Amino acid sequence: MPFFSFYDIYLGMEYALKERIGKPELFTGRNEEMTYFLKWINDIKDEKSQSTAILARRKMGKTAILERLFNITFFKNDGVIPFYYEIKETEMWVGDFCVQFFLSFIYQYIAFKTRKTEYLKPEEKSNFEKVIKIVKKEGLGYLSGIIESAAHAASHENIDILWDIVRDTPQTVAFRQKEFIVQMIDEFQFLNAMIYRDKDMKIPAKDLAGGYLSSAESKIAPLLISGSWVGWLMNELNSMLPNRFKYEYLENMPEDEALEMLYKYSSFFDVPVTEETAYLIIKISEGSPFYTSSILRSRYKHKDLTTVKGLTDTLDFETLDNRGNIKSTWMEYVNTAFSKVNNRNAKRIVLHLFKYKDRELTREEILNQLALDMTDEELEQKLEALVKGDIIDQGQTHFDFRCVRDNIFDKVFRGVYQKEIEHFDVKDIAREYAKSFEKLKRQYRRLQGKYHSQKGYFAEYLILDQLTYRARKNNDLFKAFTRYLPGDFNFCEYSRVWRYDSSPEYSRSFSVDIFARAVRAVDYSIIGEVKSREVKKFSMEEVIDFERKFAEVKKYENIERVVGFIYSRCGFTAEAEEYCKEKGIACSDDERWIG
Ligand SMILES: Nc1ncnc2c1ncn2[C@@H]1O[C@H](COP(=O)(O)OP(=O)(O)OP(=O)(O)O)[C@@H](O)[C@H]1O
Ligand SMILES: [Mg+2]
Repeated sequence: MPFFSFYDIYLGMEYALKERIGKPELFTGRNEEMTYFLKWINDIKDEKSQSTAILARRKMGKTAILERLFNITFFKNDGVIPFYYEIKETEMWVGDFCVQFFLSFIYQYIAFKTRKTEYLKPEEKSNFEKVIKIVKKEGLGYLSGIIESAAHAASHENIDILWDIVRDTPQTVAFRQKEFIVQMIDEFQFLNAMIYRDKDMKIPAKDLAGGYLSSAESKIAPLLISGSWVGWLMNELNSMLPNRFKYEYLENMPEDEALEMLYKYSSFFDVPVTEETAYLIIKISEGSPFYTSSILRSRYKHKDLTTVKGLTDTLDFETLDNRGNIKSTWMEYVNTAFSKVNNRNAKRIVLHLFKYKDRELTREEILNQLALDMTDEELEQKLEALVKGDIIDQGQTHFDFRCVRDNIFDKVFRGVYQKEIEHFDVKDIAREYAKSFEKLKRQYRRLQGKYHSQKGYFAEYLILDQLTYRARKNNDLFKAFTRYLPGDFNFCEYSRVWRYDSSPEYSRSFSVDIFARAVRAVDYSIIGEVKSREVKKFSMEEVIDFERKFAEVKKYENIERVVGFIYSRCGFTAEAEEYCKEKGIACSDDERWIG
């Protein structure tokens, strides 16, 4: 279970680009994806990477990944220059857009080459003369030519030529300088929709994305794009840029990563949870980072995530109240989608599909069951628009449709429209949550029975919690149930208490369950391993394996005073115990560590 590889692998890494996620350490998991994309970026140097689109439903963490990739690539400074641009959802004249896009690239390039991050936030992004002065001053005079040609096209409002120059600039610079660039463009679908050919913004540009037909084939400056309107984005790619992009789908987070994220948010925002509520939140959010963070960070006044009742109320607020982040986010999205297909039938269709969670309906079934007074062709168009808006899913064939499989979206949507259309009482939705939680609670209890206690992977979080909140205050007690601590050891204040993973670039990757860094150098930091297995005792081989990881973290983190600690719920083999005692590795199997 690797973890913090993707935020402070590079301890002291400067986060050049301010990420929207907030504090860099909040970024959690996505290990598979990050490993994949970091390799993809690295492979650009061998011209092996093909332009790729990251596709996922709304709020799955696409932007979080792109921004993190930017920062890692920027910081690594290892032969690939990152460019990140988000196309805003604001209408713009193409001339202005091109200038902004162009100067964003130039400034990011300057920032990378000079290692001066202030260039990532230039004071203005429209002044060509100023940027020419800067490139000269910074020894990047070779950029002047291309800047001048863009300036010339811009001042003459030669917008087709301007877009050609601007779009190809990353590739041109990479080619001439024998460099490699990754172009990350977020909200790519707005390229056509938000940009206008005329200053009055009456004539949509429509074909800007098509310009990438050849640029997207570049192997020295490939694109990595994404966007929040996935159906729409795919539609544009299929019609304007066929076969230019590989698709990578981003799914919900695996449960272990979601759990790690939950505990991290809990500790960071100081929102306590219990094992039981943690389990319920993980299950109900189904690995969506957005749902997990929205529940933990909910603005609900009486938020209390330590009881099931408190959690249910918080979730009701989040999904049914207009002030809830989940509801407002989804409704903004649904309203925009509906403004394109708006009428009562569209809502009825979506509501109807929600009634058949486990199966797809054909167009014919929808038409008949709802007795819709429209032609098959009209229905087809409407359904297509809904799929494009990501409000429903396409089924196995073009005739089949189904609701999106997402428990929470379902409730937000029904909370708003079912009442309007089917005179349904919203309180029923609150009751549905309560019912799901009852069911999950029973599942949780069964699990507890099976493991006699919490599921294996909870243990390490409980210990991390103990170290953060309780060990120092109850120093003597905690010391009493932990063997072989050094004589002058005391639990202390830790600047960070978390799991630890080595960087994916590190030749051998490994992870340890606990890394607690002491605030003061005179105190002991802790590097630890947690095993909550029921039967198998911690073995000699495992201790030796731990010793190796311990030494690597210690070296990598450059800490002198540090103690190794192994928690094993069912104890240690005699041999392992003896060895730990001899080597001064602290051991415990006491339930109070996880109690
Ligand atoms: N890896 C992660 N670790 C921690 N939190 C995350 C992670 N990914 C996403 N989040 C949380 O989910 C929210 C949504 O993420 P993000 O904005 O990156 O999604 P998106 O897919 O780009 O959304 P949109 O579809 O609106 O473009 C973030 O604000 C953050 O709170
Ligand atoms: Mg996004």
